[in-house]
Amino acid sequence: MAMPVPPVIEWRDGAVRILDQRRLPDAVEVLHCTTVEQVNEAIRTLAIRGAPALGVAAAYAVALAATRVDGPDEATYLERLDTVIDQIIATRPTAVNLAWAAERMRAAAHELGTLADHRPTDGIRDPRESIRHGLLALAHEIAADNEQRHRALAEAGADLFASGQRVLHHCNTGPLATAASYGTALGVLQAANQRHGIEVVVSETRPLLQGGRLTTWELAQWGVPFTLITDSMAADRMRRGGIDAVIVGADRIAANGDVANKIGTYSHAVAAGAHDLPFYVAAPLSTIDFDTPNGDAIPIEERATEEVHGYGDWRWSPSDAPVANPAFDVTPHERITAIITEHGVHRPPYLESLGRFAAASDEAA
Ligand code: MRU
Repeated sequence: MAMPVPPVIEWRDGAVRILDQRRLPDAVEVLHCTTVEQVNEAIRTLAIRGAPALGVAAAYAVALAATRVDGPDEATYLERLDTVIDQIIATRPTAVNLAWAAERMRAAAHELGTLADHRPTDGIRDPRESIRHGLLALAHEIAADNEQRHRALAEAGADLFASGQRVLHHCNTGPLATAASYGTALGVLQAANQRHGIEVVVSETRPLLQGGRLTTWELAQWGVPFTLITDSMAADRMRRGGIDAVIVGADRIAANGDVANKIGTYSHAVAAGAHDLPFYVAAPLSTIDFDTPNGDAIPIEERATEEVHGYGDWRWSPSDAPVANPAFDVTPHERITAIITEHGVHRPPYLESLGRFAAASDEAA
């Protein structure tokens, strides 16, 4: 199973290279994006996906935009860059890491522009050049910081699980979703397996099968034992005593601890509650949106009808069958036993336990 895997995303020779997750696990292919529209399309179509990885993708998309945009003067240049940043942010609305990274890059561009007005840096005279340099450096920093934080997060959650426990996991939250060596929820499970020996129950995650295609692929490479089930099998397995706990990632966590994550997460949370099982969420601080008071205020991405009519080239519904396809759902904070971040394990009330990190979240990757 083990094959050399290219980085999830990297900057090379002035372009953004993205491992195409739509093709996994059948093929390992890399997209070579020389335009921002190509990166945006990779994000929209889930060639790259997972909240933290989307943050890194947004950062490199802005760095790329900075090299493609031009203008007769610095003000026009920044104005045009702002327009492209807005387009990057619009690609996927739920995962807050994307907007968070893009806004960080925007703020840096404007700051670099002001600095360059007064003091050309490193002998670079054109302010646009110093903005381009600075933005690429920040994108690299966001990617590197991501690595550190996910390692800490995986370590922080590992002891929540005991030897032999069977832990249900939804969607994909491994390195493919974080663009780092460690995942969020899956990183915790990898660390827990190393320390104690556990088994993962992988829910396949309809409609785009991130669990069945990607999580199984990553767990097999790590040698972590797992069983793949369809989403609808989870509650029955809990009733039979075949699941001891649940852990998922998050696309956005509101200030009160409500969690938006892949559609199907809420069903698992309800079933876990009905069977007195702990329900954990693992996410870096950059996924917490302190400006969003609760889950009702989180925008939920609605995706194309074809994703529910079939998969790939196979259609099983009439092509005009009416469809609902929200990509995410919201799990209310009352159903969440604990939220794991790179700063440790946080328990309710989340307004307090997470709230004290509100200031730090601006810098968190
Ligand atoms: O639509 P996707 O595949 O981007 O959704 C991903 C998820 O819902 C993940 O659980 C979440 O982003 C956390 S990834 C560490």
